[in-house]
Amino acid sequence: MAISVSKTEYLKGTIKIQGSKNTVLPIIAASIITNGISVIYNCPDISDVHVMCELLKILNIKTCYEDHVLTIDTTKACYAPLPYDMTCRLRSSVLMLGAMLAKWGRGELGMPGGCTIGMRPIDIHLEGFCKMGVDVDVAGNMLCCKSFYLTGCDFRLRYPSVGATENLLLAACGAKGRTILRGVAKEPEIIELCNYLQSLGILIEGVGTDVLVIKGTGYLNCADYVNVFDRIVAGTYLLIACAIPSNIILSGIDDIHYIKNILQVCAKLGLNVIRSEHNLHIQSCGRVNAGAFATGIYPKFPTDLLPVLIAVLLKGSGDSSVTETVFENRFSVVDELKKLNGKLFVAGNTVYIERTDNLTGNIVNATDLRQGAAMVTAGLMSGGNTIINDVSYIERGYENIVEDLRKVGAEITYI
Ligand code: UD1
Repeated sequence: MAISVSKTEYLKGTIKIQGSKNTVLPIIAASIITNGISVIYNCPDISDVHVMCELLKILNIKTCYEDHVLTIDTTKACYAPLPYDMTCRLRSSVLMLGAMLAKWGRGELGMPGGCTIGMRPIDIHLEGFCKMGVDVDVAGNMLCCKSFYLTGCDFRLRYPSVGATENLLLAACGAKGRTILRGVAKEPEIIELCNYLQSLGILIEGVGTDVLVIKGTGYLNCADYVNVFDRIVAGTYLLIACAIPSNIILSGIDDIHYIKNILQVCAKLGLNVIRSEHNLHIQSCGRVNAGAFATGIYPKFPTDLLPVLIAVLLKGSGDSSVTETVFENRFSVVDELKKLNGKLFVAGNTVYIERTDNLTGNIVNATDLRQGAAMVTAGLMSGGNTIINDVSYIERGYENIVEDLRKVGAEITYI
């Protein structure tokens, strides 16, 4: 399947922002350590969620997904290795390891996959596990981890990796004694995971800071979880509204703090946003201020929105630049944007973007999730028609980007 998108003059209407992908995936992994039935509300209907459920099935954990409600029944959970052909389908499969170690003291699973935006090693995850007394063996594509006695430790992360923080938090829930994790990530996804683990009965101090102190407990409750909105999806639509004249409302924004960094960049780009309750009302004339931007770890501007920001800056009032500081290979968007006549080049970890007045449609590829969203954005800005192939990448994280945008007047359809 492909997406066909054409130049769009005006967006008007309401888009309900889906539940967060990057928040719900660690919480699905965390469910492994519970005993009983739990329910996750506002769970997005995206392929990554369904793959996580297939992985749970291998562990004899039953799931039922209906109308954005995911029910997980762990009463008959039993240990099993997770094969590479499943784990390689997404990055978050690696979080199963922390949870399996907490529950069974062992985990054998294939290496994780995910978007090809850099090397994406898991050395920090593994260093932390070793510190907890886990024997780690890597054999080909398989990771074999065993711990006779999972023990709390004092561990400093060399880099505030989101995934490593989540994985070590999960393992710490089952470790004997107290675990101190220093230099952890502070992304909203970490805060949400801590809140969820606390609702299971785990004691965690320092939530939202860069030191977390976790005290595991022998018996764990089950708890339901109401997922927060997806800040990256909201950010995608905010950035689109910068470039396309709009009068739109984004609804379901339950915690504005989680997108303060994105709103600041949108304000710099010239976007006017009014907040009311859980809605953002956006009025835009589609003019984009040029500027120099950079991504960074939270609360800086998220790396996941870098490709969309680059696309939007093609319409800037002058030349712009964006510097990527998190991943080393996030510029696949540049070659595809050039196919639309975009004028931009990469030097080191910075992309330089020239204002381009004559973007024209072409046939392009989605090469990863967020780059795919950037190509949709560029298609809305380009004369003629743009066809985007390999939409399965986009469907990993956007529940229905085509329908969301079509409903507010975008010229977009599946073909
Ligand atoms: C998560 C998000 C992803 C987001 C990223 C940064 C999910 C499913 N994915 O990815 O959308 O772009 O956070 O906000 O939540 N690193 C190491 N060693 C490690 C782990 C990471 O060197 O053991 C490096 C990575 O190569 C990268 C940087 O740390 O350069 C950030 O990675 P990390 O924060 O771990 O991102 P993910 O958890 O993979």
